[in-house]
Amino acid sequence: MSFPLVRMRRLRRSPALRRLVAETTLSPSDFVYPLFVVEGSGVVEEVPSMPGVNRYSIDTLGEECRRVQELGIPAVILFGIPEEKDALGHGAYDPQGIIPRAVKAAKKAAPGLVVICDVCMCEYTDHGHCGVLDGRYVHNDATLELLAKAAVAYARAGCDMVAPSDMMDGRVLEIREALDEAGFENLPIMSYAAKYCSAFYGPFRDAAESAPSFGDRRQYQMDPANALEALRECELDIAEGADIIMVKPALPYLDIITRVRQEFDLPVAAYNVSGEYAMIKAAAAQGWLDHDRVMMESLLSIKRAGADMILTYFAKDAARLLREEA
Ligand code: PBG
Repeated sequence: MSFPLVRMRRLRRSPALRRLVAETTLSPSDFVYPLFVVEGSGVVEEVPSMPGVNRYSIDTLGEECRRVQELGIPAVILFGIPEEKDALGHGAYDPQGIIPRAVKAAKKAAPGLVVICDVCMCEYTDHGHCGVLDGRYVHNDATLELLAKAAVAYARAGCDMVAPSDMMDGRVLEIREALDEAGFENLPIMSYAAKYCSAFYGPFRDAAESAPSFGDRRQYQMDPANALEALRECELDIAEGADIIMVKPALPYLDIITRVRQEFDLPVAAYNVSGEYAMIKAAAAQGWLDHDRVMMESLLSIKRAGADMILTYFAKDAARLLREEA
């Protein structure tokens, strides 16, 4: 059948008709909101390269968690910025460190909110790399133990999920075993499985003060040229016990999201990263793009590509808009 019997425009004639045949919809339930936590008190400071995104001290974090929850967003992911950094990133696995204290504050203020903890060393090491150094090489196996210690410390503080983002080999298994041994066999792991070495993380590194002091992350994060390798990364993390697998960044890697979604049957997350956010904010501030429409089109595209959930700095803006439209 073809034209004039077929007219594709028939189902596009009214908003309600379009809604009826929409294949993809967004809901606040799709989002995970990233939060940056700093030491100090009374802090709510905007990240210069991420307008609308703040860094919170532990005493202001709870209120923000409640606001997120009131918008219908089910989860937050916490990133800690410690006061002191050292070669071994002690702040990452200190039971009194910034994240364990932040978890307690978040759970107290918003008990129903899913509190996820990013697990990585780069915010805590003075060299800014995601693990322990052996010369200029990030030592894989020596890092595993520290990541596992961090995951257990966050679990003990009461978090609902851990999310390793370091890209060391074998870290999901190491964390799974350590959690089980500590009695947290029911705590899920969201693995940053296909995490690319991307320049789109630039604004995050301003926010988290985690830029590497030398070199880059190419010895551990993935080469943007590779897609089959992403499937291997996911397969390995699933075999090691990952409950959710993530693709990161999102928009430049929609093909990877689709392939991962088709290949595996567990929930797939996509991280709409800081640079993706900053580009839209910057263009909108210039009046070059319609902020809300570009934001919603981007998030919808990530969902259409196959993501079951989206980690995004737009979570609150988008949830507000969705609420207005409803
Ligand atoms: C930590 C981590 C990074 C991001 C999430 N976890 C930065 C990095 O790998 O350099 C990036 C998130 C973003 O850009 O929004 N390893």
